[in-house]
Amino acid sequence: MANPSLLILPGDGIGPEVMAEVRRVIDWFGANKNLTFDVSEDLVGGVAYDKHGTPLTDETMARAQKVDAVLLGAVGGPAYDNLDFSVKPERGLLRLRKEMDLFSNLRPAQCFDALADFSSLKKEIVAGLDIMIVRELTSGVYFGEPRGIHKEGNERVGINTQRYTESEIARVARSAFELARKRSNKVCSMEKANVMESGILWRDVVQEIHDAEYPDVELSHMYADNGAMQLVRAPKQFDVIVTDNLFGDVLSDCAAMLTGSLGMLPSASLGLPMANGRPKAMYEPVHGSAPDITGQGKANPIACILSFAMALRYSFDEGAYADLLEGAVEKVLADGARTADLMGPDGGTPISTTEMGDAILAALD
Ligand code: NAI
Ligand code: MG
Repeated sequence: MANPSLLILPGDGIGPEVMAEVRRVIDWFGANKNLTFDVSEDLVGGVAYDKHGTPLTDETMARAQKVDAVLLGAVGGPAYDNLDFSVKPERGLLRLRKEMDLFSNLRPAQCFDALADFSSLKKEIVAGLDIMIVRELTSGVYFGEPRGIHKEGNERVGINTQRYTESEIARVARSAFELARKRSNKVCSMEKANVMESGILWRDVVQEIHDAEYPDVELSHMYADNGAMQLVRAPKQFDVIVTDNLFGDVLSDCAAMLTGSLGMLPSASLGLPMANGRPKAMYEPVHGSAPDITGQGKANPIACILSFAMALRYSFDEGAYADLLEGAVEKVLADGARTADLMGPDGGTPISTTEMGDAILAALD
């Protein structure tokens, strides 16, 4: 059988720095576990604009459509802030998400014991936390028509429209239920069915998909505002949370910060299954290109490495290897390895991006 294929798009700023550590982890799996990927690399974001005058060429887009998974670093930076909107680095990222139809955005919030003190919440509330927010990514109020700002009489009116079709809700619900079956079999769906018709439809369709296809999964429904309260009051009550684009945007950022640094947060964006049964997929850290620390060896590579762990689990069905990699990260943190972003108020000596990579490889060994 052919090796699984990966397209790596390091992008801008610290993107290439953290991705270099991921490449070493990928090589480690090839050398030690006989898990070899066909890896190709290409440009996205500002570096693609510099070379081609566009943040994502048609050729790169076509390659992304063909591979089993895309791994992306980060895009953007001050050098590109004044570019025309149509060629901004972020447009490359948006084009990938849109043309691959990546409608299901997975944002884990996982608290490593060694970092529990980092949370803004009490240690006992977050220790051991491991939840997954599934955010609908390609529809809803960010895309609905009509939209815009117009004049009514002598004042301006701003309009956005929340619009969801049954099939859009059904496919993200399926994605959440499938995920729950690989975890602790529990889904909480969040909307505002009390005040929004689209929320009523959301609740109905999620329930219908559950009853027809996933009756074994425990399903509950919650109003999203209550969900926000519960997330900071008692986050461990949740396993998988599924919600729309707007609520998911806010709730996933909120949940992520329960666990500490931006340098620790991975994500996955999944689409429909391809011919080989694997979902279209892109994996990327939540953080951006961090121009303030670029080129200084300070970037924490863990968010990007954990994004690769998600690829192992969700694209390649290598859950045991994902566990192994996450376990290695857990071990180096428990042993006290800290990049600068993970230093507490009482200081200490931070290690570099490469040293964190070294430590994770040693733990894998
Ligand atoms: P950012 O995530 O790049 O940085 C925010 C802060 O977190 C900075 O102080 C940075 O040093 C720190 N940080 C981020 N990742 C880190 C890591 N791995 N290790 C240690 N520290 C880390 O967000 P910011 O500053 O708002 O945006 C910078 C650029 O990145 C902008 O051009 C923005 O448009 C772009 N951006 C790109 C994203 C993407 O590619 N998905 C997401 C967010 C922003
Ligand atoms: Mg957000």
